[in-house]
Amino acid sequence: MTDLFEKLKNNRGPLGTFSKVAHDYFTFPKLEGEISNKMFFRGKKVLVWSLNNYLGLANHPEVRKADADAASQFGLAYPMGARMMSGNSNHHEQLEKEISSFMSKEDTILLNYGYQGMVSAIDCLVDRHDVIVYDAESHACIIDGVRMHMGKRFVYPHNDIASLEKQLARAQKLVAETNGAIMVITEGVFGMSGNQGKLKEITALKKKYKFRLFVDDAHGFGTMGKTGAGTAEEQGVQQEVDIYFGTFAKSMASIGGFICSTNDVIEYLRYNMRSQIFAKSMPMPLVIGASKRLELLKSKPELKDNLWKIVHALQDGLKKAGFNLGTTMSPVTPVFLSGGHFEAGNLVVDLRENYQIFCSIVTYPVVPKGVIMLRLIPTAEHTLDDVKYTVETFEKIRTNLREGKYDKEKVIMA
Ligand SMILES: Cc1ncc(COP(=O)(O)O)c(C=O)c1O
Repeated sequence: MTDLFEKLKNNRGPLGTFSKVAHDYFTFPKLEGEISNKMFFRGKKVLVWSLNNYLGLANHPEVRKADADAASQFGLAYPMGARMMSGNSNHHEQLEKEISSFMSKEDTILLNYGYQGMVSAIDCLVDRHDVIVYDAESHACIIDGVRMHMGKRFVYPHNDIASLEKQLARAQKLVAETNGAIMVITEGVFGMSGNQGKLKEITALKKKYKFRLFVDDAHGFGTMGKTGAGTAEEQGVQQEVDIYFGTFAKSMASIGGFICSTNDVIEYLRYNMRSQIFAKSMPMPLVIGASKRLELLKSKPELKDNLWKIVHALQDGLKKAGFNLGTTMSPVTPVFLSGGHFEAGNLVVDLRENYQIFCSIVTYPVVPKGVIMLRLIPTAEHTLDDVKYTVETFEKIRTNLREGKYDKEKVIMA
């Protein structure tokens, strides 16, 4: 028997173990100033490559004005309560209509938070007779939703369509006995690798197996497809995706999210989804702000064009310089290097302190031991000069790494 607090003190969790050395620098860093390509880190101006402000909407003057006007008119409280009880408004319903029309889907439900909405939707849509089949590299919110599922769940290796088919065959046998249904879950754009889910191949399997497809397109909404309607649009299978999740926290540079599907499915979610029925609805400035962002996303294709100009320049430049970018097929740009934890730490300190470049870093256990992944997120606000400077700097830090200039035993902070 142990005391709960004592246990937590002695086991801080995989990341918490490093909090004493990492806090305020590698973890919980503070980026200050206006959200843009250049911000301040510990008082120094840095070139930032780690914000999902893909379209540069965070500080667009029309967005800032819409947010401020709505906050001034409604405050943050209105409407009070959950949507079902007292927290509905014409603005909420209007935004849902606008999203449905943009996404070419029958109906939409707003989510007060993306993560929690995704967990709750998975929980709500299936019961113990049903089987979930999902991609192994799914985001934590999908994994958490799947954990709540009382029926069987079959996982397939990332984007491995042959394995998915095997799992569908297994699932089909099972649901024949339970009289259940099958739901496949994957992502549109995988946020770590930038790889696209193989939506076209997955939906083609519907000819052989009876299932519904739920796609989390957090990184694809606004960035992918001709109109920005996401990865399914990009792959030409918009109508074959049965349930579509998007967040307002990335290309829309706000908070909250939405799910689109048929009238029946959305009505079912409205009346059964616990995270929305038992929690306060989205405050008005977020609803009106999202509407303004969607209007700009639709009416200013140059924002997505600018994003992709930077994406192509950055990814082509890095590839030409011999960097391994893995399998990305989206703006998410991972750069894979070899080294241990401490080399990774020293490399990042060098990047931030001596070259004023701020990007995210991922090490074991998220990537295999000995792999350092630097993750760059290009946005419409970056410039070609930013790209040139970054590629040149990455070549320098790669040379330093190869020449053993980054200490392997400890991180030397500036
Ligand atoms: C793939 C994916 N799904 C869901 C979420 C959660 O979205 P939100 O930040 O809106 O809660 C994220 C955010 O990181 C994500 O990357």
